[in-house]
Amino acid sequence: MKFSDKFIWGSATASYQIEGGAYEDGKGLSVWDMFCRTKGKIWNDQNGDVACDFYHKYKEDIALMKELGHDAFRMSISWPRVIPNGTGEVNEKGLGFYDKVIDELLKNGITPFITLFHWDYPYELYCKGGMLNPDSSKWFAEYTKVVVDKLSDRVANWMTINEPECFIGIGYHEGWHAPGLKLDFPEVMRAWHNMLLCHGEAVRVIRQNSKQKANIGCAPCGTTNYPIENTTENINAARKSTFGTRGKDIWSYALWLDPICFGKYPEDALDKFGNDMPETSEEDMKTISQPIDFIGFNIYRGDAVKAGPGGKSVIVPQAPGCPRTPCGWDITPPAMYWLPTFLYERYKKPLYVTENGISNNDWVSIDGKVHDPQRIDYLNLYLLELRKAINDGADVRGYFVWSFIDNFEWAESYKQRFGLVHVDYNTLKRTVKDSGFWYKKVIESNGEIL
Ligand code: FCB
Repeated sequence: MKFSDKFIWGSATASYQIEGGAYEDGKGLSVWDMFCRTKGKIWNDQNGDVACDFYHKYKEDIALMKELGHDAFRMSISWPRVIPNGTGEVNEKGLGFYDKVIDELLKNGITPFITLFHWDYPYELYCKGGMLNPDSSKWFAEYTKVVVDKLSDRVANWMTINEPECFIGIGYHEGWHAPGLKLDFPEVMRAWHNMLLCHGEAVRVIRQNSKQKANIGCAPCGTTNYPIENTTENINAARKSTFGTRGKDIWSYALWLDPICFGKYPEDALDKFGNDMPETSEEDMKTISQPIDFIGFNIYRGDAVKAGPGGKSVIVPQAPGCPRTPCGWDITPPAMYWLPTFLYERYKKPLYVTENGISNNDWVSIDGKVHDPQRIDYLNLYLLELRKAINDGADVRGYFVWSFIDNFEWAESYKQRFGLVHVDYNTLKRTVKDSGFWYKKVIESNGEIL
């Protein structure tokens, strides 16, 4: 049981969560800059103004990545840093920052995987209606072209959008993430459809303008169900509910990936949503279903299910006291076997695990080190399941730990620590955790020490 020699090992971050430099060198405002100013929205009213200060410390961080043996680094670009108003004038200094980061990565032998949008949406565009504006995908195409023109001589791997489910589901529907809206479902679906169009336009722009052969995908998340026991009935039930539409929400993988891969919304979504669906045209679906090269997926947990009456899946509640991370996410390694298995069966595209990891209460111990055995155990358990899925046929080409470094965890702010590297937010000092050194050995042995 081996990972292929070409398997890519890396870790992931996102611009707003690590960069800081929120008001430097002409950066425009993002919806997260604004949301963090509203009292009560973020744990302890903190913000990403400084975060890990990657904006100034990127060289130090990339040197650490190299020391820890990373093949690749998944990072996102801040749209308002590059185009402060979202459209129009380009901020050369902002774009220049990413230019320098890419050069530094390549100098250190680390392959960049770029996410174009990881939630820090330009505030100026939000004021023009944001994702509800019919021009929103044109705006995204314009921004994509600027980035691709600048970086594609050195960057080949692109993800259009990170977790549209969270950006629209939490930001536009539930309202506890930026921009903080609680829209009715027809508007949510309009924003969703526009987000799919953003994705499609971006794929087209990358394909047409890349200076080298591009490897293009996206990084969604979604509800993951896995069989409590591997009977055919349970497996079928789990597959069906992983891709099924449960109610008026956007958390099904199929609601994002069917339009992209098959050029149509899932039937059960059309049935359940009825008149709440926006008008769509053939032209739209053509844009959305531009061919992609891979599917990324972000996975932390899943729900065990069994087949109930009529083969319908029924969630099997976790036993009291089951393993759980400090942010309350239960630890469910089989999700890492079944999700790639189901995704590969349905879409037949190469896959990457674009995020997987655990928040933990880590601190620098009396010996100056950061001991995080829970993270090592979690990653080990999940990677064993991933290896099994690959050996059983799922074409998974790479794995990115969330996260390289502790960072600003959105509404939970600095309460959560997800990194392989610890940050002291008073001094910004970095300390590699035990898990960072362990992951280095995983990479060196190409997973054989698992
Ligand atoms: C995902 C996000 C990422 C990070 C992890 C913990 O939903 O994509 O930015 O917050 O969760």
